[in-house]
This record gives sequence, structure tokens and C-alpha cells, in this order.
Amino acid sequence: MSANSPAPSVRPLIAGNWKMHGLRAQLAEAQTVRDALTAGEISHGVDVMICPPATLIALMAEMAKGSRLAVGAQDCHWLPQGAHTGDISAEMLHDAGATAVIVGHSERRADHGELDRIVKAKAEAALRAGLTAIVCIGETAGQRRAGLTLDIIARQLVGSLPEAGTAADTIVAYEPVWAIGTGLTPTPAEVAEVHAFIRRALIDQYGTQGREMRILYGGSVKPSNAAELLAVPNVNGALVGGASLKAQDLLAIARACKVDAA
Ligand code: 13P
Repeated sequence: MSANSPAPSVRPLIAGNWKMHGLRAQLAEAQTVRDALTAGEISHGVDVMICPPATLIALMAEMAKGSRLAVGAQDCHWLPQGAHTGDISAEMLHDAGATAVIVGHSERRADHGELDRIVKAKAEAALRAGLTAIVCIGETAGQRRAGLTLDIIARQLVGSLPEAGTAADTIVAYEPVWAIGTGLTPTPAEVAEVHAFIRRALIDQYGTQGREMRILYGGSVKPSNAAELLAVPNVNGALVGGASLKAQDLLAIARACKVDAA
């Protein structure tokens, strides 16, 4: 089994991460995405998700009900409930209509000092609540310059992934910190190297499930570079920040997805 030949059944996912952007008026963009999906403008072989701020999850889930647009969250607490003012549990996100949650985004690792063991606990919480965990990993510019990229990736994977993940409930997002919001991206060859490394690690940890797990690329994905990045082996979709705030850009990225004819 070659780590470089992903199972053809891996469905691409284009997920938008709105971060701390979006008042209710921004839901109009999600509505446009929903309507384009309903109109068949995007291949049925591609999954599309938007992860809005927590304040918009229930509203967006209601709006997207019965459509192909999935709704995700950006973070969760690791406990199901308790005295944790301001936090939101995975169960609450599920109750609000989310089907997935991003955990371990580099902005949370940086802003809130989240360590791998916390990220892992959050990923486990997501699975416990019936959500898909989108586990983010990625090196900083300094770590890449020092030649430490694969060491960092290996350590984050071991530390952050849930024990009993499956291809249905666990997704890895490779987001080089230096590529987020900067307009910079790694070369396709650099992306290929890291994604092949992640694929091998997932197969080591999860066996055949690891072969089918989705590995997303994130960091300055936009309509103009999406086709090139999404064509890289073992890239099974994208986690899109800034460009996901505009429906037409998110849709253009989804259209750039290569889909197996099967
Ligand atoms: P940008 O697409 O804005 O670089 O953000 C990427 C990201 O952090 C998605 O989670």
C-alpha cells in the first residue's frame, strides 16, 4: 500500500473558516453558497462546509437544513458541560446544528496557549459528541527555515489526534502558520512532501482508516491558486480563511476540486 496513492473514495472537502468575522448580514454569503449547491453548480463529489463564529452556528444550520451545505464550529471545550464561563462544549455545538468542529487551529494555539494534549482532548470531545474533528497542524516560518517541518508535524500528529478516529470523523488540516493570511503558500512540491508524510503517519496510526482520512491544505488558498494546490497528491480539499467570506470565492475554490469520475 503506497502512501502516495490515496484511496479513490476520498471525497474532497472545501471548508470555510470565517474566524472572528461575520454579523448576521454575513449569512447572505452562506445562503448564496447553499443555493449554488442546490442548483448543482458544484460537483456532487465535493463536500462544502462553512465554520462561522459560534453566534451564527444555529442560524446558519437552520438556513442550511436539508441542503448540501454543512456547518462547522471553530473550537470547543473538552468537557460536555460544567463551570467554564464563556466556553462551549462539543455537545452544545452538535445541539446547535454543527456537524464538525475545528480544533487546534494555530490562532488558538497562539492566542490561548493550546498545547497538543488540549487539542487532543478537544478532538476526543468532538467524536464523543458525534462531530467530525478537523485537527489543525502546521509549522512556523522559523521552524521551516530550521528544517524542522516534518519533526513538528510528527509531534503535533502524535500529540493532537484522537485515539480512535476513523475516516468518517477525523480530518487533518495542514496549515503552515506562515502561509495563513499572508498570501504566501508553500510550493506544490512542499505541500506534497508534507501531505505524503501525514498520510504515512495516519496509516501507521489508524491502518486502512488512515488511508481514507481527508487531509486538507490551508493557508492563503484562493481561486487563483486552488486548482494547483488541490491537484497535489494527498490533498483532499482545503481549509479556507479569508477567501471563504465571499461566496463567489468559496464556490470558485470548490469548482477547482478535481473529482474522481467514479
Ligand atoms: P487564510 O485562507 O486567510 O490564509 O486562512 C487560512 C486558515 O487559517 C484557515 O483555517
